[in-house]
Amino acid sequence: MAVLQSPSQGNKANNPEVESPQHNKLEEGSKKLGMHIEDIFTDYINRTKIKLKRTLSGAGHENQHASSGKDKFTDYIDCGKVKLRTTSSVGGSVSCDAKTTPDLPVLQNTLIAMESIREASQRIARISAHLQPPNSQTEESCVLKRADCRAKGGAPGFKVAILGAAGGIGQPLAMLMKMNPLVSVLHLYDVVNTPGVTADIGHMDTGAVVRGFLGQPQLENALTGMDLVIIPAGVPRKPGMTRDDLFNINAGIVRTLCEGIAKCCPNAIVNLISNPVNSTVPIAAEVFKKAGTYDPKRLLGVTMLDVVRANTFVAEVLGLHPKEVDVPVVGGHAGVTILPLLSQVKPPSSFTPEETENLTKRIQDGGTEVVQAKAGAGSATLSMAYAAVKFADACLRGLRGDAGVVECAFVASEVTELPFFATKVRLGRRGAEEVYQLGPLNEYERVGLERAKKELAESIQKGVSFIRK
Ligand code: NAD
Ligand code: LMR
Repeated sequence: MAVLQSPSQGNKANNPEVESPQHNKLEEGSKKLGMHIEDIFTDYINRTKIKLKRTLSGAGHENQHASSGKDKFTDYIDCGKVKLRTTSSVGGSVSCDAKTTPDLPVLQNTLIAMESIREASQRIARISAHLQPPNSQTEESCVLKRADCRAKGGAPGFKVAILGAAGGIGQPLAMLMKMNPLVSVLHLYDVVNTPGVTADIGHMDTGAVVRGFLGQPQLENALTGMDLVIIPAGVPRKPGMTRDDLFNINAGIVRTLCEGIAKCCPNAIVNLISNPVNSTVPIAAEVFKKAGTYDPKRLLGVTMLDVVRANTFVAEVLGLHPKEVDVPVVGGHAGVTILPLLSQVKPPSSFTPEETENLTKRIQDGGTEVVQAKAGAGSATLSMAYAAVKFADACLRGLRGDAGVVECAFVASEVTELPFFATKVRLGRRGAEEVYQLGPLNEYERVGLERAKKELAESIQKGVSFIRK
């Protein structure tokens, strides 16, 4: 009896039976159609209404079932001369009723005839290309298989991956991205705990399909086909540390993840959150240059939290709702490199020198304020997830072609003599399509700019050297 394994399963070399002519013929048929063998078989069963005998594993009893077509079971479908192994989300084994089972030639003819069924081809091609990454490793986990099944009902939109999805930022970020109507597929990757986070978030009744990926061997599957990759992977600060103290650990993490992006989704927009942003963005750029995939427009360091904080603190002083306030924050994302341009606040406002000094300091030290308040339990996670989603949503609206999407980000820039700098950028289909100039600065801001550039230059160089060394 020939055993047919789905392309996503098993090592054929270990199973001499799969080399039988029947197997080859059927698998050829499935390859021609660009389908998984189990999809073809399930479709066939669905249309012919063959009665199946299903044995529930562990339940100790047998039931007669007609296949629903959507209902795929583990183990084997035995159809007389052919045993077909399928993927499954529910467990148990399935065998065709011997009396109603067609013989192999009938099945083969049916499979090949399906090539002309345009609608079926389109459906499977869409599922394969859009929702099922090739060679998915996730099927090994029951939790992740369930997510796979849900993928069949996916909504139109963008495919987004979060790397570091099980972390303090990653989890609320994943939750908020699952609520974003622009997201059709949400891939959650981390080196720990993604099955739990995926199962949890996957139960939210919003449109995005959630799939989980665990550990380095699944990184490529997590990234394949993504439009936007958000990276909050890496260690956070503890009290007394600077962001630069995180360099030694986070630089390597960012390098590995960006190598995966260069290989699997070189055209994706990348939102880099991992600290120190002033160095990790240059690291990412060098990795992409090395791989020959660098597009400066598509790499954006996330400085949105500085803007969110600035809007909040300035609104407090002005007695306005934060939504009414827009504060440009330029430079970078660490201490004095964070430079709020209070002279350009909208609505136009004036501040006393004392207010300017206090507001600037509070915005620059906002991260440290949270690190100290959390007293060793990490840094900003919830406000960061909020800011990351605000920024990611702007990137997706830009990708969709919306006009006038403008946010601050740390990007490749010619605004100053430095190769990277945060300013307002216009987000479009290709990422940061326009990098805006600084605009008129007052004396206080000009002094701040010089200090910021000095520190930024060193952090940028440190990142570049990490890859070029
Ligand atoms: P966290 O420790 O809670 O979470 C980090 C996650 O990254 C963990 O789940 C961890 O398993 C995962 N991770 C570690 N190595 C990985 C790898 N190689 N691949 C994939 N995932 C990996 O930390 P957090 O509070 O979520 O912060 C994450 C990073 O974001 C820190 O570097 C922090 O400094 C930075 N951050 C940046 C901003 C910003 O404004 N840009 C704001 C806040 C925090
Ligand atoms: C922040 O600004 O909150 C982050 O960069 C985290 C940190 O270490 O301050």
